[in-house]
Amino acid sequence: MTEINLRSDKRDDESHLRVLEVDGYHLPPFVKEEHFRSMKTWKARNDDIILSAYPKAGTHWLWEVLSLLVRRKAERIPEKKDTAMIEELTEEKFNSMAAPRVLNTHLDFQYLPKDLFAKRCKIVYILRNPKDIAVSYYNHHKKLLMYEFDGPWDNYFQRFMQGNVDYGSWFDYTLEMERFKEKNPDYPIHVMYYEDMKENSIKEIGKLAKFLEVDVGDELIRNIDNLCQFDKMKQEKNAGENVSAWRDNNPGMYRKGEVGDWKNWFTVAQNEMFDSIYQQKMANTTSNIRFLL
Ligand code: A3P
Repeated sequence: MTEINLRSDKRDDESHLRVLEVDGYHLPPFVKEEHFRSMKTWKARNDDIILSAYPKAGTHWLWEVLSLLVRRKAERIPEKKDTAMIEELTEEKFNSMAAPRVLNTHLDFQYLPKDLFAKRCKIVYILRNPKDIAVSYYNHHKKLLMYEFDGPWDNYFQRFMQGNVDYGSWFDYTLEMERFKEKNPDYPIHVMYYEDMKENSIKEIGKLAKFLEVDVGDELIRNIDNLCQFDKMKQEKNAGENVSAWRDNNPGMYRKGEVGDWKNWFTVAQNEMFDSIYQQKMANTTSNIRFLL
């Protein structure tokens, strides 16, 4: 595995993003090649749950909701999402996790333990308006020092559109997930949208509980929802964060938590370019991305 400084294809863009490259696939710098290559043979359990998303779609939020739902308790857990992030784990850690494991990942499915699919482990997949994802990912890359990234938004926008970021292009990721669903129409996969969660999280958590077949009443759903509201999570989950990993010692995982922040960042030209590329690449999409909120 080579550690590389991923340049953007834009001619005058001098910025770089520190990532790891394995056979042409770009990963965040914390991934270890040895574990990444070995994970395909890791053993799954029937009750494993996989939370899957392109980065910045709301993984932390959903992971917290899922973790409380499977415990059937509206009590803050000290664990952070990263402790169950497949690409951050060793096989030993993976095997030692308490059941039921609420795993999470941004990896393409081809890299994940094969046994997860053989055992038909439930998948929860969350999507978000890619314009908001681009802005959120920009701030993520800029604030997390391990990426050594310090470029302006204008260049980053091009980089994002080209997929010159860890986990590659949002377009490719999303289309690949659509292919998986088409090829496996009976696979237990529950699709969610960040915007729906923002609009009516209680309703969405109720649907999620049904999918997971966890028997929770309305009051517990309300309490879990309440505990997972942005401000509460920001305050409580940020406590104990390794502040030195962040620019200005200021943890930024819980940034704004809003729908439509892209409007504060995209220029008119960027928006037009985005729409035109989106229309080309996603002409036959089966996802229901909501752009209008
Ligand atoms: P913003 O950068 O737009 O604020 P991920 O967890 O996949 O990395 O996604 C991070 C995004 O989800 C960030 O978006 C973050 O603020 C937002 N987020 C995290 N927790 C949230 C919550 N409880 N409610 C709403 N948004 C949340």
